[in-house]
Amino acid sequence: MVRVDDVSKTYRTGVESVTALDSVTLQIETGGFVAVQGPSGCGKTTLLLTVGGLLKPDNGSVTIDGESLYEMPIERRTKFRAGSIGFVFQQFHLVPYLNVRDNVLAPTMALPLDDARERAEELLEEFNLLDRLKHTPAELSTGERQRVALARAMLHEPRVILADEPTGNLDERNAEIVLGALAEFAGAGGTVMLVTHDNAAAAWAERILRIDRGRLVEGGETAARHNAKAAG
Ligand SMILES: Nc1ncnc2c1ncn2[C@@H]1O[C@H](COP(=O)(O)OP(=O)(O)OP(=O)(O)O)[C@@H](O)[C@H]1O
Ligand SMILES: [Mg+2]
Repeated sequence: MVRVDDVSKTYRTGVESVTALDSVTLQIETGGFVAVQGPSGCGKTTLLLTVGGLLKPDNGSVTIDGESLYEMPIERRTKFRAGSIGFVFQQFHLVPYLNVRDNVLAPTMALPLDDARERAEELLEEFNLLDRLKHTPAELSTGERQRVALARAMLHEPRVILADEPTGNLDERNAEIVLGALAEFAGAGGTVMLVTHDNAAAAWAERILRIDRGRLVEGGETAARHNAKAAG
């Protein structure tokens, strides 16, 4: 279960300040698949970074399976993140000098290498990238890079996948492969937060969270209320 309680974040640069998140409260049940939508600049990436333990909010808390991310010491948070969270960045953040396979393997210090290699190749096969194993990111198309980033996020079998526009550069067929992989991950008990401007992609989610100027304007009801409503 992912819980975000009353989270606010204001970026301060020199004299200006931008409130990117304003008292956001939401819950995502374990195995849940939610989409996050809203206009450019409304705070979607900020929300994902905050949930992923990468950006400390000014106030409020983020709790994953009962562990409060910003109350634990930073080393523990780093370990927790490495073990439990798969992040697909909007700008991919692949390592430029590593080839495709080694990029996918990069976060796997914890796994025995042979197992990790096998799993990396399985994922890359699923994402139609087996014939690009030796390419570096500069030698890939944007959509290929995007799929490498997703394979990397899935390699260590995290509990939560946070994916920022993971289909933004994909054709319909590859988008379906990626969304199908996320749905399957959620079906197997993982939790997915998918940021997307694409309504067809958002339709894969069970629930849509809408953000407008840092505020959650839809979908923020608690899991209990959500279930009660679903039960009629
Ligand atoms: N590091 C930063 N410093 C200052 N302001 C920032 C920073 N990062 C984001 N912002 C501002 O915070 C607001 C929210 O940014 P965020 O990246 O979360 O938006 P977004 O919803 O992901 O947008 P997009 O759909 O374009 O990716 C924006 O107005 C942005 O200009
Ligand atoms: Mg963004």
